[in-house]
Amino acid sequence: MKVINVVGARPNFMKMAPIIEAMNRYPDKIRHLLVHTGQHYDEKMSQSFFVDLGMPKPDINLEVGSGSHAEQTARIMVEFEKVCLQEKPDLVIVVGDVNSTMACTITAKKLGIQVAHVEAGLRSRDMTMPEEINRLCTDVLCDYLFTTDHFADENLAAEGVPADKIFFVGNVMIDTLLKHRALASTLDLSRKLGLVPKGYATLTMHRPGNVDDKRILTGILEALAEIAKELPIVFPIHPRTKKMAEQFGLGHFFNSGEKVEGIWITEPLGYLEFLHLNMNARLVLTDSGGLQEETTVLGVPCITMRPNTERPITCEVGSNIMVGNDKTRILEEARKILSGEIPQGRSPEKWDGHAAERIVEVLVEKLG
Ligand code: UD1
Repeated sequence: MKVINVVGARPNFMKMAPIIEAMNRYPDKIRHLLVHTGQHYDEKMSQSFFVDLGMPKPDINLEVGSGSHAEQTARIMVEFEKVCLQEKPDLVIVVGDVNSTMACTITAKKLGIQVAHVEAGLRSRDMTMPEEINRLCTDVLCDYLFTTDHFADENLAAEGVPADKIFFVGNVMIDTLLKHRALASTLDLSRKLGLVPKGYATLTMHRPGNVDDKRILTGILEALAEIAKELPIVFPIHPRTKKMAEQFGLGHFFNSGEKVEGIWITEPLGYLEFLHLNMNARLVLTDSGGLQEETTVLGVPCITMRPNTERPITCEVGSNIMVGNDKTRILEEARKILSGEIPQGRSPEKWDGHAAERIVEVLVEKLG
């Protein structure tokens, strides 16, 4: 079988790495190509992950870059269609919920090519999130839907997806985390930054809903500045957030000096570096999707600055707390954690480091 694996943006890379590794165990059955759409293109947002994760260089880079959603999606579709026509794969595999995921799914399906979606069935029910639109469009078209938990299975069943298309395999992002955890713990980044275990928080924030509106972003930053008086916050800042904060004149909230104090900003970090910091953080603050899952497995308290989550399992069994973007709520929950009220959690079923192997076993059985 000939497979095209698609990646586009930062959260895709750690999901695809274990799938490629699992496919390499079947050299006589699977030929695979890696296509990078180029949605993320900065060294720190893209290439450094290939190095950290030991991923092969993409065979093809579509180099679509940034643009409005329509522009970016359209550019990916035009370029990916050419690749599909040239390569004639039996299967395209997409992961996650970024624009590249949806664009490549639509393109392949219109050419009659089967598509598998890894991380299917997640639903926030929030149609203001571009990712929710991407998830819905992708899942309705895909032939193989690989899920991470029982909520995803239930969502797909409720949408009328036949049971024989749904495969509960676990979480490929956690495959990557478990594989790299020991190595990440040996880095000396925290020592270099003068950080002690449980003596700092980490932060990621880039959702349009949080950073594109001056009033909302200011409120969040005010809450974070309060927290940072007690616990320094390490913030590898996303390009979108940097751009918006500069535009709104909110740069005074950040410190980029030598010493980690206040809300300390740094460039986006590599996979291993950020895992290293998160493992020993007292608290993680985020609006990301994947980090809610990673903190669940690491057992680190996570405050999610979003009104909803497509990953409710992280609240059901993990250490994740949803607070929205309200300043008071963010502070309230952070203070509880700072005063020692630590949410306890455990790893969900099948988040055991073997999800990618299960995916490839299914594909080999079905497609030969
Ligand atoms: C995308 C995903 C989001 C994911 C996030 C992780 C969609 C709809 N969104 O959001 O789900 O959580 O990636 O990072 O696919 N930029 C750079 N360098 C880059 C890439 C982007 O400077 O390498 C800047 C550009 O100004 C660009 C902006 O960031 O316009 C946003 O990039 P885009 O790919 O549109 O979405 P993200 O916000 O990164």
